[in-house]
Amino acid sequence: MTIKHIFIVGAGTMGNGIAQVAATSGYQVTCMDVQPAALEKAKAAIAKSTSKLLEKGILTAAQKAGADQINFVSSYESAAQADFMIEAATENPELKFKIFKEMDANAREGVILASNTSSISITKIASQTKRPDKVIGMHFMNPVPLMKLVEVIKGLATDEATLNTTLELCKVMGKEAWTANDSPGFISNRILCPMINEAIFTLQDGVGTPEAIDAVMKLGMNHPMGPLALADLIGLDVVLFIMEVLQRDLGEDKYRPAPLLRKMVDAGYLGRKSGRGFYIYQGRQ
Ligand code: CAA
Repeated sequence: MTIKHIFIVGAGTMGNGIAQVAATSGYQVTCMDVQPAALEKAKAAIAKSTSKLLEKGILTAAQKAGADQINFVSSYESAAQADFMIEAATENPELKFKIFKEMDANAREGVILASNTSSISITKIASQTKRPDKVIGMHFMNPVPLMKLVEVIKGLATDEATLNTTLELCKVMGKEAWTANDSPGFISNRILCPMINEAIFTLQDGVGTPEAIDAVMKLGMNHPMGPLALADLIGLDVVLFIMEVLQRDLGEDKYRPAPLLRKMVDAGYLGRKSGRGFYIYQGRQ
C-alpha cells in the first residue's frame, strides 16, 4: 500500500511533533484529539516550530506550507481514508487499549497501526485489535522535529511487511530507525530512565545540587542536557511510570523509583509542562 495520508491520534507534544515531521516530509496529515484546547495548542506549537526551522534554513517554504495544511479534527471520521495511523496519546495503558480498539474499527483493512508508547508492551496493545500482525511501536524522541531517532518495536505478532513499511516511512520522514524487541522500556528507556532515576537518588542523598549533577553529566560526559533537566523535559510523571513498569515487569529492585521522584509527582511538580520540576520554568515550557 502506498502511504499518502497519515492519521495521528493525540495532539500533545509528541503527537504534534510527529504530525509536523510527517507533513514537512510531504504526507497529507490528519491530527486528531478529543480535546479542542489540545488541537489549538498543537497548531500554535507547529506554527512556532516550523517558523523557527524555516528561519534557520532547515525547512523550505514548501515544507512549511505542508505543515500549514495539517487537518486538525476531533473524530475518526476521515480515518477510513488514512494509509497509516500513529497513536501518540498519554502514556496510560487503558487509554491506549481503548484507542487501539477505535483505530482498528475505523481504519481500512491492512492499514498499519503504530504506537508511540515509550514503555507499554506492543504485544499487549496489538492484542486489543483484530490485526496484531499490523501493529508496531514507533517511538519518537522529544523534541520530535530535532531528534534523529525512531525506535521501532516489533510485537510478538508483528509481521515483516509491517516492519519494513514502518522502517521505510521513518526514512522518508528523515529519521534513523533502529529496531528493538518488545521488552519493558525497549532499548531507550531501559537505559535512559534508570540513569535519570539514579541522578534523582544522587540529589536525594545530598551528593550534589541539581545544577552540579547536570553540569557533571553535560561537561564530563558530553550529554546535551543533564539528567534532571532532561527529566523535566520528559515529564516526571512519565519517568515515574516507566520506572514502575521496569520494576514490575523485570522484577528487579534495582529499578525502584527514587522516593524523591514519587514525592515530586505527588506534589504536581511534573517538569516543564507544570512550570516546575527540578527547575522552575516561567513562560518557557
Ligand atoms: N522545533 C524547532 N526548534 C526547536 C524545538 C522544536 N520543537 N525545540 C527546540 N528548538 C530550538 C530552540 O528554540 C533553540 O533555537 P535557538 O538556538 O534559535 O534559540 C535550538 O533548538 C536549540 O535549543 P536550546 O538552545 O534550548 O538547547 P540545545 O542546544 O541544548 O538543544 C535539544 C535542545 C535538541 C533539546 C538538546 O538539548 C538535546 O538534544 N537534549 C536531549 C534531548 C533528549 O534526550 N531527548 C530524548 C528524551 S527521551 C524521549 O523523548 C523518549 C521517552 O520515551 C522518554
